[in-house]
Amino acid sequence: MRVEGTDVRTIRFVERPDGLGCPEIIDQTRLPHELRFVRLETLKNVVRAIADMQVRGAPLIGAAAAYGIALAMREDASDGSLARACEALLGCRPTAVNLLWAIDDMRGRLHGLPSDQRVAAAFERADRVAEEDVEICRAIGAHGAAVLRDLAADLPEGEPLQILTHCNAGWLAAVDWGTALAPVYLAHRDGLPLHVWVSETRPRNQGASLTAWELLQEGVPHTVVPDNACGHLMRTGRVDIVITGTDRITAAGDVCNKIGTYLKATAARDCGVPFYVAVPGPSIDWTLDEGQADGIPIEEREATEVAEVRGLAGDGTIQSVRVIPAGSPVANFGFDVTPARLVTGLITDRGVCTPGRTSLAELYPEHEQRNSGQAGVAAGTPN
Ligand code: MRU
Repeated sequence: MRVEGTDVRTIRFVERPDGLGCPEIIDQTRLPHELRFVRLETLKNVVRAIADMQVRGAPLIGAAAAYGIALAMREDASDGSLARACEALLGCRPTAVNLLWAIDDMRGRLHGLPSDQRVAAAFERADRVAEEDVEICRAIGAHGAAVLRDLAADLPEGEPLQILTHCNAGWLAAVDWGTALAPVYLAHRDGLPLHVWVSETRPRNQGASLTAWELLQEGVPHTVVPDNACGHLMRTGRVDIVITGTDRITAAGDVCNKIGTYLKATAARDCGVPFYVAVPGPSIDWTLDEGQADGIPIEEREATEVAEVRGLAGDGTIQSVRVIPAGSPVANFGFDVTPARLVTGLITDRGVCTPGRTSLAELYPEHEQRNSGQAGVAAGTPN
């Protein structure tokens, strides 16, 4: 997508004269105040970048992990090194299933290869994972834009479609385009009048700092609102559709996403506002079925994210200030689960469907065949 008129991706492989090229990322902890690119030269760099959320968003975490394994193979291409790299990455962010997906994919492809072929194969596959993510997001964009156009057709001529989104499921959360925001970008470029309500998304404010920045760069009309304003907006008829992303959905269509998503879905249901979720294929956890959403590990992050607010100080530096009394305990759950019954539709890279095993399996028949009878195999540590 565009930043100051230039096309940029969240992660890209950069060549070096010594042949030891590496991935370069946008450090998202500096946005929206500073656009800083950082090179990740070792597996350790990648693990840190994911854990500290310099890279974040389920699809981007998957792509970064694939490069992490490739970098580990360059250091040592043995079976032991491959196993250790997978282990180190697995622990970084437990909720986004794309991380598991990318690790399984890389491990599966590299395991059977002689070690002298692993480095080249790993970098080639990591590039492909990143490229496939772009294709997946573009396809979500095309299917979702059709949903937006259908809804807009019921509005008076020229009136903007009012879209509400939560957290950041734009291009910063993926390699390019994003998931929930891909339909917005495509429809906007096609000339559909629209406006996006951006929910700030405490505690880390991915909506206020990342989604707002993306939309601004792309020239999409938007307004940032506190998280707790969203129910009011919906009840007073100012929202035509809610679209969020997901970090993992079960095969039955229960949606795990950034904390606060469930509250938006319940308000949307009460107000009769359609609630859609943008879903890349690698975000579907086929091992979890009906009633098994609590098998998704919910990441709990450090207390400082809630206790402090980070922003640009008057002297131009990025600083944190405490907003709760010293000594008050804090709970910081990163994600929640929205039951499938509250979701109007899933916008996948293969089309739009109602949430449920049958409809998802129709779109992804290869997974259904591979995973039937294997519930729980790769689901990670249950919460
Ligand atoms: O904790 P984050 O910022 O990595 O959370 C991910 C998100 O931005 C959202 O939950 C998003 O909707 C899913 S990723 C497209």
